[in-house]
Amino acid sequence: MSSSSKVIVSLLGKYLKPYIPQVILLSIFLMIGNSIEIINPQIVSYYIDSVIEGFDKRTALFAGLMFVGMSFIQRSLMIVIRYFSQNLGWASTNDLRSDLTSHCMHLDMTFHNKYKPGEMIERIDGDASALSQFFSTFTIYFIGSFLILIGIIVATFVEGWIYGVIFSGFTIVSLIGLYFIRKIVSPLWRKVRESTTALFGIIEESLSSLEDVRGNGGDEYVMKKFHDVSRTDFKNKNKAMIVSRIYYLASIIMNAVLTLSILVACYYLYVPLGLTAGTVFLLLTYASNILRPLRMILAQLEALQNTLANIDRINEFFNIETEINDAGTEIFPSESIELKFKDLDFSYNKEDMVLQNISFNLQPGKKIGLIGHTGSGKTTLARLIFRLYDPTDGTITINGINSQEFPLKELRQNIAYVTQEVELFKASVKDNITFFSDEIPEEVIHSVFEDLGLEEWTKKLPNGLDTEVFSDELGLSAGEEQLLALSRAFLKGPKIVILDEASSRLDPATERKVDIAISKLLEGRSAIIIAHRLTTLHDVDDILLLKDGHIIEYDSRENLLKDPNSHFSQLLQKGIEEVLQ
Ligand SMILES: Nc1ncnc2c1ncn2[C@@H]1O[C@H](COP(=O)(O)OP(=O)(O)OP(=O)(O)O)[C@@H](O)[C@H]1O
Ligand SMILES: [Mg+2]
Repeated sequence: MSSSSKVIVSLLGKYLKPYIPQVILLSIFLMIGNSIEIINPQIVSYYIDSVIEGFDKRTALFAGLMFVGMSFIQRSLMIVIRYFSQNLGWASTNDLRSDLTSHCMHLDMTFHNKYKPGEMIERIDGDASALSQFFSTFTIYFIGSFLILIGIIVATFVEGWIYGVIFSGFTIVSLIGLYFIRKIVSPLWRKVRESTTALFGIIEESLSSLEDVRGNGGDEYVMKKFHDVSRTDFKNKNKAMIVSRIYYLASIIMNAVLTLSILVACYYLYVPLGLTAGTVFLLLTYASNILRPLRMILAQLEALQNTLANIDRINEFFNIETEINDAGTEIFPSESIELKFKDLDFSYNKEDMVLQNISFNLQPGKKIGLIGHTGSGKTTLARLIFRLYDPTDGTITINGINSQEFPLKELRQNIAYVTQEVELFKASVKDNITFFSDEIPEEVIHSVFEDLGLEEWTKKLPNGLDTEVFSDELGLSAGEEQLLALSRAFLKGPKIVILDEASSRLDPATERKVDIAISKLLEGRSAIIIAHRLTTLHDVDDILLLKDGHIIEYDSRENLLKDPNSHFSQLLQKGIEEVLQ
């Protein structure tokens, strides 16, 4: 079995398994529907012959009613089949969607930096939707069409071997033709998927950076890029569609040839074989009916081309493994936590070193103020503690145990990392703080707000904690976003706090609120504060100054203050921006 077919079988097995009863029911409906399609022409043929032989009203009425009844059942079944198969397709691929999303969420930052969110949407939703079509229609229609085809061939053999031979010859030639279609059409559809993915990537990127784009007059560039990608997508789709349609045309021409062959055969065999008008009708009906299953097989094979491309991509995606291993089993210490960096080097791309030779000690309950000019590696250092990346060399230990020895969940549960750019969801204030957990009672959230001095602010919210963020009800300033992020961290009850301060300036009133919130959050906890403001450095014990990924100053705040030549003293005299930028 080729690797693609193995993957298809395993995907079908995994995602269709829970729906086996539905699959069986559908197959039964389909068998009945298909049998009627073979039987109905036989009834009409019988009717014609009985009319020619001598008109018998009762037989005619019986045959007529049978035909109408059967047609009605068949049409009704088709509606039911369509409904159930769509349902099946969606239900089964929703499981796949959820697996793809979960896999995506667990992948490393290295992966997420490489792919745009729009591409991920297309991978998770686009690929799964295409597969839903495959799940809902392919197996059922493909096998169903195949059975009709076999049924028709068998029925024609029963009428006479010569007809059987003509029908099977036609089917074989058509199917060989189809085999070659696969080879031509498949790569074209794959190209379509690629260009559509790129298009989604561009749309997502332009929308998510709308403010920057507008602010900097980038509209023209964005539109040009959009047009370029759309044009490629259109060209690819056009080509794939045209090539696919040529084969529909071919199938119609082949069908005309079949009808002609039947007519010729009937003309010469009418007298020698004693054919009846009913048989001629039957054969002509089968000749026109065979087109539908053949076309269906064709359409399904076309869908299979797309699906093969999707499945390859889905499989490729599932095979991307996270480089951050999560095999640790150590239990996170409950108190006196000491965090240590030892001879740590780090590079994002394995070439340019972003951090070099970093060693420092964060003692239990102490606070380190981390400062450095932009791009010096401060955020990178924070990401390493949170294990968004692992060091290239050297170690990070917690109470002497390598941080990689703790389960990721445990590590991240115990460390709060408040990032420079706060990501809020379009959801209520409560959900934004609890990350949609229903288990945290509102009183706890209120007490967090109180602790952080935010109770006044919450009182002003029109719907209390249920007020929707980013709505007409509530637009948030940068400072307020940070306050919400701090409440999130506080709620977690972390042992270590890493605070990556936003570099944007806050208005004095919000700054005061943020300062109060920060000092509350840090009370009794070990913390690393990446500071962009001097006020945040008042309470720290040690100062660590980074430059181009190297530590150029690391000592207690007290010692550095005593030394008028220290960078830190300079910084206090001249202001943080003046010294560091
Ligand atoms: N995801 C990434 N992939 C590759 N390189 C990165 C990535 N993030 C940051 N860098 C690079 O690593 C270096 C350090 O970046 P980092 O974000 O740690 O700086 P920073 O000190 O936090 O700066 P700022 O004060 O502006 O926040 C920079 O040269 C940056 O270009
Ligand atoms: Mg930073």
